[in-house]
This record gives sequence, structure tokens and C-alpha cells, in this order.
Amino acid sequence: MSEPQFPYATSPIEPADAKAGFSCGNRALDDYLARHAVSNDADGIGRAYVLRRSLVDPPHLPLVLGFYTLSMALAESTQVAGVLDAKLPGYPMPVALIGRLAVDQRAQGRRVGERLLLDALRRIVDASAILGCIGVVVDAKTEDAARFYSKYDFVSMSKVSWPRRMFLPIGTARGAFSED
Ligand SMILES: CC(C)(COP(=O)(O)OP(=O)(O)OC[C@H]1O[C@@H](n2cnc3c(N)ncnc32)[C@H](O)[C@@H]1OP(=O)(O)O)[C@@H](O)C(=O)NCCC(=O)NCCS
Repeated sequence: MSEPQFPYATSPIEPADAKAGFSCGNRALDDYLARHAVSNDADGIGRAYVLRRSLVDPPHLPLVLGFYTLSMALAESTQVAGVLDAKLPGYPMPVALIGRLAVDQRAQGRRVGERLLLDALRRIVDASAILGCIGVVVDAKTEDAARFYSKYDFVSMSKVSWPRRMFLPIGTARGAFSED
């Protein structure tokens, strides 16, 4: 099984990860990892990255602690401009989408979600050096998820309640790694 490549804590998904018995408490996310993540990754639809239990983690934790997916997406120019308080061209703006992010229930509350989110942001910041990307969007599916993302400065970008699309400017994400 592949090791994570510095500076990332996660590794690209492999077929064994889908069979690891991941259970985050949200059936749609569990099903996605078990049934679709490997093929969607292979087809370039959504790259999936997993955080596996390492030798420094307690052995009672599950093999896959958490995962997330990354894709390219477009966001309404007016919505992005509203968050940035800036003038933008009228056509859709390029963004990175964290489509799914979940932590196994047995590993929740150990800052695994934070590690996953920072890892995803680092990959996005790196990708933004070679393609246009004005920010990061997530679709928070529950109030809990929205509260989690708002801790990391994501803000709501539409009035639609659920799923709540939230946005983080790429400059804010870049700032998180500026002293590395
Ligand atoms: C939401 C989720 C990713 C959080 O992961 P976690 O590993 O338990 O969270 P962490 O330990 O990294 O917590 C980091 C911070 O977020 C806060 N947080 C975690 N879960 C939260 C929640 N459900 N609501 C509000 N805040 C939350 C923590 O209190 C902590 O805040 P602090 O810095 O003030 O201490 C995880 O509970 C999960 O996978 N839930 C089910 C799937 C889901 O809702 N995914 C969201 C994508 S739609």
C-alpha cells in the first residue's frame, strides 16, 4: 500500500481502502467510499485521498481514519464577488470542490477532520499554481457540517439552506501555509 508523500498526510485511494469498513455515521458518505470512490478516482471524476491509521495512532482505531474528494468546479461569479467584495468578470469562476470529507466515527474528535481539511487545502493551493482557481467550495449537507467548515473561515455563498454551498478564497487557503 502506498505511503503518503510529504507534505501531504493523505494518500491516493487504493481498492483495499474501499473494503476497510469505513463508517462515519452518514450512509451516503460510507457508500460513496465503499462503492464509487475508487472508480470515480480512476475516471478522473473525483480524486479521492485517504488518511490511513499509522504506527503512531492507537491500534484500536480503524484502518481508514477519513477521506476526502477533490474536483474542479465552477461558481456563480456574482456569488463569489459577494464574498470577496470584489469586481469580477460576469462568467462562471473556476474553483476547487471538496466534494466529500468524512471521518470514521471511531476516530472523530481527534482533529482528524482538521487534518483532512488542511491536507485538502494544501493540495488545492499547490494545484492553483498551475491552473486558475479563485477559491474552494464545499456543500455542507447538515448544520453540523456547516459549523465545522465555518470554523475554518468558509462562508455561505447562497441563500439555499441545504446543502449549503460555502466558499473560502484561495488567498485565505494560501495564507495557511505561507510560513512553511
Ligand atoms: C464533521 C467531521 C468531518 C469533523 O471531524 P472530526 O475529526 O470529528 O473533527 P475535529 O476533531 O478535527 O474538530 C476540529 C474542530 O471542528 C469542531 N467540530 C467537529 N465536528 C463538528 C461539528 N459536527 N459541528 C461543529 N463543530 C465541529 C471541533 O469542535 C473542533 O473545534 P475546536 O478547534 O474549537 O476544538 C466529522 O464529524 C464527520 O465526518 N462527520 C460525518 C460526515 C460529515 O458531516 N461530513 C462533512 C462533509 S458534508
